[in-house]
Amino acid sequence: MSNSLKQLKRLLSYLRDNELYFITGLAIVLLMSYTNGIIPVLIREAIDGGITTGEYHVAVRYALIVLLVAVLNGVFSFGGRYLLVKAAQYAVYHLRMDAFRAIQRHQMEFFDKTYSGQLISRITNDTERITRFLSFRVRMFVYSIFLILVSLYYMIMMNVTLTGVALVTIAVVVALNTTYARKVRPIYDKVRHQTGVIASVSTGSIAGVKTIKALSVEENIQGKFSKENEELYSLNVEATKITALYGNAPFLIMGTAMSAMLYYGGRAIMANTLTVGELTAFLTYMLTMTWPLRALGFTIGDIQRSLAAASRLFEVIDSAPAEVDPPDAVELKNPRGKIEFRNVHLTYHTGKTVLKGLNLKIKPGERILITGPPGSGKSTLLKLIARFYEPERGQVLVDDVDVRKIKTSSLRKTVAYIPQEPFIFNRSLRENIALAKPDASMEEIIRAAKIAKIHDFIASLPEGYETVVGEKGVTLSGGQRQRIALARALLLEPRILLLDDPVSNLDAETEEKLVGDLKDILEGKTALIVSQRLSMVKLTDRVIVMVDGGVVEDGSPEELAKKGGLFSEMLGRGGWSGQ
Ligand SMILES: Nc1ncnc2c1ncn2[C@@H]1O[C@H](COP(=O)(O)OP(=O)(O)OP(=O)(O)O)[C@@H](O)[C@H]1O
Ligand SMILES: [Mg+2]
Repeated sequence: MSNSLKQLKRLLSYLRDNELYFITGLAIVLLMSYTNGIIPVLIREAIDGGITTGEYHVAVRYALIVLLVAVLNGVFSFGGRYLLVKAAQYAVYHLRMDAFRAIQRHQMEFFDKTYSGQLISRITNDTERITRFLSFRVRMFVYSIFLILVSLYYMIMMNVTLTGVALVTIAVVVALNTTYARKVRPIYDKVRHQTGVIASVSTGSIAGVKTIKALSVEENIQGKFSKENEELYSLNVEATKITALYGNAPFLIMGTAMSAMLYYGGRAIMANTLTVGELTAFLTYMLTMTWPLRALGFTIGDIQRSLAAASRLFEVIDSAPAEVDPPDAVELKNPRGKIEFRNVHLTYHTGKTVLKGLNLKIKPGERILITGPPGSGKSTLLKLIARFYEPERGQVLVDDVDVRKIKTSSLRKTVAYIPQEPFIFNRSLRENIALAKPDASMEEIIRAAKIAKIHDFIASLPEGYETVVGEKGVTLSGGQRQRIALARALLLEPRILLLDDPVSNLDAETEEKLVGDLKDILEGKTALIVSQRLSMVKLTDRVIVMVDGGVVEDGSPEELAKKGGLFSEMLGRGGWSGQ
């Protein structure tokens, strides 16, 4: 519980300067409870003081007071709700922002370990639950508790025995509702989970529709969907069974209690120890309390779960490094583009050891083809230079500085990594190119696009650089995507270009064109190109063959061709995969 309290305190700290709204909101909710709780007393006064005694004006006075109290109740209800929801939304806005920023701060490894679906659920479902907790649940909790207290106070003042009946009823109904909530909740959790499964099956099959159609496996996919859909159906039926069973029980108990009150109350009235007004007030209290009692059962269980959601979010926030750069990180001024691997060891979080003491020196301006069988560690090598991963032993140096000691902003400007399938965002081409330099001038953007040889294509589009990718049928081919990614990288004028398999997705003709253009693009840069294609040899003056995380051949293409090793075999076959 102390942990829950800590989470609650931390959650409430997000209210910041809206704390006053929150507290005022809660105070207004108390007033709302009070106006609700006083109405049965007013009814009693009207009956005992006016109706049964025949004093017309007293009855009218109380009728007017009840009206006034009801109006006030409405005003309080609106005010409390408005202030609490406003404060809750404000808090959750900042919480969501913190979580989102923290996710962005995480290292690459975090994303290897965490399912993106889970992170999306943190940002959407968990924050939604917290909003509901801070606005609705907290309000219901305070409202219900205070209303029950006010009611019990007035009841005790009127008749102790009947209050006893009410107390027993309250205890039974709360227990019943708590049991109900406990039983139905896991099923609703499963329903929520299952809805997620269905969503991911749908998204997967929509995203992979080309593969599904190409292989004609629609039935197989439908079978999977239908299985998950059936599961969701039976879970919902199960939940309904429990709801139907417990849903009416509280009314039955309230009914029993009211019948008991009528019996004892009636006898008490005849014995002159209770008035008609008091009995009416008691019965009205029972009706007034029905809904708060129901809400209380749910709220009690929900507090724990909302705090669990909050603690999941806090975990995402806390596990992110506060700062990516160490305090003594340096800026690379006028980088030359030298790279060195010194005894580098790398093991991925899965336990897979890829590099076992790699040593490699790359001179400024060298152009290197890195080749080797799948899984030999070529991409890993590039990612280490870009510091997506850090070696557990040894050093990766750029211009003789350990990459861990270089400011991230400086490293990103010096080293451009272009993945095999670059991601193009659903934004304008201009924004896509200027992604890493949003304040770039149009001239700079065009210059980069020209070097990447994509300017003419963009200029031919009706909306030019403002064309939004993915809209109105503007989709990009593999080659165009590569070039947008190149332009994006070139905008930062990097000294080092890392190209991970730039042509593997391209047809022969597009490949030839890109290779021709890359010649200019690589001008004056250090370049590492991972590829299985021989076309790349034209661009490079050094070839490195990797096998199982180690460099097995290293030299000029001519040297290696003569040597009769793996590279010359590759030449003989026309590439690793036979192209
Ligand atoms: N993020 C990761 N987490 C865990 N293991 C990884 C990760 N990335 C790569 N590996 C593993 O490390 C080894 C080397 O992978 P890498 O991607 O460097 O190979 P590659 O030479 O680029 O292969 P390919 O030619 O298929 O692209 C492989 O066994 C791979 O399964
Ligand atoms: Mg690779």
